[in-house]
Amino acid sequence: MDKLIVRGGRALDGSVRISGAKNAVLPIMAAALLTDQPLTVRGVPALSDVRTLGAVLSELGVEVGPVEDGTLRLESAGEIGHEAGWDFVRKMRGSVCVLGPLLARLGQARVSLPGGCVFGVRPIDVHLKGFEALGARVRIDHGYIVAEAPSSGLRGSEVFLGTAFGSSVTGTMNVMMAATLARGTTVIQGAACEPEVIDLGRCLQAMGAQIDGLGSPRLEISGVERLGGAEHTVLPDRIEAGTYLVAGAITGGRVRVTGCRPGDLSSLVDRLKQAGFAIERGDDWLEVQPKHFGFRPSPTDCTTQPFPGLPTDLQAQWMALMCRATGVSLITERIYPDRYMHLPELVRMGARIRRQEALAVVEGTERLSGAHVTASDLRASAALVLAALVADGETQVHRVYHIDRGYERIEERLVALGADIERAEDD
Ligand code: EPU
Repeated sequence: MDKLIVRGGRALDGSVRISGAKNAVLPIMAAALLTDQPLTVRGVPALSDVRTLGAVLSELGVEVGPVEDGTLRLESAGEIGHEAGWDFVRKMRGSVCVLGPLLARLGQARVSLPGGCVFGVRPIDVHLKGFEALGARVRIDHGYIVAEAPSSGLRGSEVFLGTAFGSSVTGTMNVMMAATLARGTTVIQGAACEPEVIDLGRCLQAMGAQIDGLGSPRLEISGVERLGGAEHTVLPDRIEAGTYLVAGAITGGRVRVTGCRPGDLSSLVDRLKQAGFAIERGDDWLEVQPKHFGFRPSPTDCTTQPFPGLPTDLQAQWMALMCRATGVSLITERIYPDRYMHLPELVRMGARIRRQEALAVVEGTERLSGAHVTASDLRASAALVLAALVADGETQVHRVYHIDRGYERIEERLVALGADIERAEDD
């Protein structure tokens, strides 16, 4: 197991190119199950989650090529299995996105229930409700979700997929994929509007799916007999881009993220401006700059929300930034009220944070100090690395395999921006 050793205190300076979005590439890879024709995906990031899903698909019988220059070819021409076991699903919850495609293509799927995760229960009831609306019988059996389409196949219908915490991103994706091959028309109300859902929809359209309303809460999908092969380039990762912008901001440096879509980051840009940073933008880049040398951000509240609100996947990074603010900021987590595992670790670095349920009160401090901290999930790990960049002395971030799930070569990119960070084997 690896750790990252960070010696803080250097202002970052430079530019970093953003990779393809993790949360789009995973369902897009799963969409290869919907056709016996090849699917070529470009802009595939080199992440452990991509390798894990590749292994899940390969186990199911999909031919999964190597990723070469960010291009991955998948082909499901041979016999396809319908079961994804616990071994894979426990490594990555995202593997539940094979459910919809398997059900649509084979009429049956048996996929391990993902179970809870470090930031809460994370149910998948909405996915199952959607499959049932399409006529599938769904039951839980020995820890597995078993879904079966009627012998006449899935049939379109109307279903509401909202939850008390906003619409479900992978729930929308799963049901959308299942509906592409159902008989008749499916209407998804309360659909998630995240850019990753749109990107998957565009890939499905390129494969021949009939989908209207992408980016809106009402999707209309007219089922087709079969889908074909396609080539698709994955959209840039807005969370990776946001993380590097906050890295620049927290160090009082100047960081430009290139190859991104500024419009996908408007909520973060808004918060950064509110906190006193200057932001410049071009068609496909954003740059953050401090007001002056040694600049500390103004305290700035944030509430996580579905797109286009501030993503929950940037909440931990924002908290790290506010730990250095000149006053008190309120952070409200509205998507995953328990997603605060980074909080005690930041406190170990000298941050002053109190939490009451979904609300965190962050009292900024001039000085954070290096410490041994433990990463507990992907975004929490990123927040600890960001805090370490500005902390006095050395921080060791343990269990960084979490970070490799969603950030391609993070330490190399940070070193290129001027950070003092190295990877080492943990004892
Ligand atoms: N929810 C339900 N029932 C469901 C599904 C979701 O109540 O059946 C609730 C969840 O508990 C949560 C809210 O709805 O409160 C939103 O959950 P959602 O289903 O949208 O989350 P997800 O699809 O499982 C994806 C990303 C997460 C990201 C969330 C929110 C992938 C693989 N994962 O998860 O990304 O935080 O959307 O935007 O796309 C990450 O990248 O670090 C990560 C965790």
